[in-house]
Amino acid sequence: MSELHVIDHPLITHKLSIMRNKKTGSKDFRELLNEIAMLMGYEVFRDLPMEEITIETPICKTKAKVIAGRKLAIVPILRAGLGMVDGLQSLVPVAKVGHIGMYRDPETHKPVEYYCKLPADVQDRLVVLVDPMLATGGSAADALTKLKEHGCRNIRFMCLVAAPEGVKVVQEQHPDVEIFCAALDDHLNENAYIVPGLGDAGDRIFGTL
Ligand code: PRP
Ligand code: URA
Repeated sequence: MSELHVIDHPLITHKLSIMRNKKTGSKDFRELLNEIAMLMGYEVFRDLPMEEITIETPICKTKAKVIAGRKLAIVPILRAGLGMVDGLQSLVPVAKVGHIGMYRDPETHKPVEYYCKLPADVQDRLVVLVDPMLATGGSAADALTKLKEHGCRNIRFMCLVAAPEGVKVVQEQHPDVEIFCAALDDHLNENAYIVPGLGDAGDRIFGTL
């Protein structure tokens, strides 16, 4: 079964609590989401392989460690995943960015795919799939299947708020994919929204409420 990492840090939890508040407007919501994405990046990229190179400081020659030439890709699930890209990309500016477009059918809550554009060499990259909300797990599970259809074998999924129901679905369908979240919430309501959650992430980011 894939590992679930709940990144429990005061800075992240504090910022997430502000995001949960319905009085928080789109500008602050977007800024906080990107800040949390950057903070979570420290954990998501914690085990990137390093290599030793020789450099010269102003004082002497020395060996120094740098990230080994592992290629990275960040893939947001549209729309809301877009809100996490800048924060992550500021940590790894060389990462390429792919996009998978999906929306949940309002009746069935099942994901409907409408767009997919990935880097040509995505199969050679460590891919971080991002979406703030893991609710029923349908969108994340389908996006992971899509990435695997494109040959990706080294994938992590990063979200902000996860519901136990969605974690179970992803773990069952994609036991090889590690999941990173900032909070594991309680349950889904009758409309498949996360409780307590933060509402509709896409609407809050883009002001389409
Ligand atoms: C939200 C969210 C996820 C999905 C999660 O997107 O950003 O993609 O729902 O729900 P699930 O785990 O039950 O699939 P939404 O469908 O609202 O589209 P949007 O980002 O374009 O608003
Ligand atoms: N999508 C959201 O944006 N929020 C939820 O709580 C569930 C799905």
